[in-house]
Amino acid sequence: LDPLHLDIMALTPELSRQTKLKEVAGIPLQAPTVDNWSQIQTFKAKPDDLLICTYPKSGTTWIQEIVDMIEQNGDVEKCRQVIIQQRPPYIEWARPPQASGVDKANEMPASRILRTHLPTQLLPPSFWANNCKEAVELSNPQEDAARTRTQNFALCDPLTRLSSPKFLYVARNAKDCMVSYYHFYRMSQVLPDPGTWNEYFETFINGKVSWGSWFDHVKGWWEIRDRYQILFLFYEDIKKNPKQEIQKVMQFMGKNLDEEIVDKIVQETSFEKMKNNPMTNHSTVPKSVLDQSISPFMRKGWFGLFLDGTNLDYHGTVGDWKNHFTVAQNERFDEIYKQKMCGTSLNFCMEL
Ligand code: A3P
Repeated sequence: LDPLHLDIMALTPELSRQTKLKEVAGIPLQAPTVDNWSQIQTFKAKPDDLLICTYPKSGTTWIQEIVDMIEQNGDVEKCRQVIIQQRPPYIEWARPPQASGVDKANEMPASRILRTHLPTQLLPPSFWANNCKEAVELSNPQEDAARTRTQNFALCDPLTRLSSPKFLYVARNAKDCMVSYYHFYRMSQVLPDPGTWNEYFETFINGKVSWGSWFDHVKGWWEIRDRYQILFLFYEDIKKNPKQEIQKVMQFMGKNLDEEIVDKIVQETSFEKMKNNPMTNHSTVPKSVLDQSISPFMRKGWFGLFLDGTNLDYHGTVGDWKNHFTVAQNERFDEIYKQKMCGTSLNFCMEL
């Protein structure tokens, strides 16, 4: 491995299973991130930034590889020069004494591609600063939710809109995401022990996992999707029709690649290809950080079937969550889901 691959692997000794998460505004985050919070919050976003935003385990690695391949015009060799964890830095990443995500981003040339798992309310304010003024002033979620798509667009000055950062958000079916995160917690040696599935279930539904509540995260990004340059995608849609979704990403990035290249990107970013690619399957990360003998990073991939791309309705037909949830847990989860996600004008309902 060349030195570029080693940086990510240098685990700070004080980070271990015993490390407790710390909170910022009620959102649990990894301790070094919270310790570095002032640097993260004063991060200077630029109008030509593209920020990949996801709740953990929603297909971050996948969309990253897609974006990278588009950026490199389908050049597989260029994408394989650096392991995926080191291609766009997480802005909240901190492992002193290594360079933080902010340090890395600050060194990048213009048109940066960056990543985050942060919910909207914790994003560095500079990301919103160059945007439509009205949007910044709108802080009441009820009022916000009541606005229609057209009204929201009309509020923004198109020129301002175009000179603001772009956000690429990927959401994944809540239950499959939760199961995936459980197995990630089990194999990660730097996150607290998740305990039994039943214990983890409580932690997850109470939003006490790292990066907080799935419900608040997805809803938060969904509610502002028309007021900023946000391309809101769904993991299940990418699985169902990768070519179509990749073309959306390509247009959003302002790229125009030949169909032949798009087909190549579809192939190279398939689950099978990425599972067998050491630059994307996290196999280069040492066991002391991610123990893939407990659970592989590229575990199963996809179980739910997303039926309607216009709202958040999912049908988890043969979801892996069925192998984990008890009937009682499933009923409880559905109830919480309805409370948290339904009842807005945006139709946040997931039929699972
Ligand atoms: P599973 O644990 O269900 O297998 P993230 O990158 O946000 O941590 O998400 C990881 C999840 O995305 C894992 O889900 C992983 O298998 C899945 N994933 C990664 N690459 C994928 C691909 N090319 N196609 C489908 N799923 C992919």
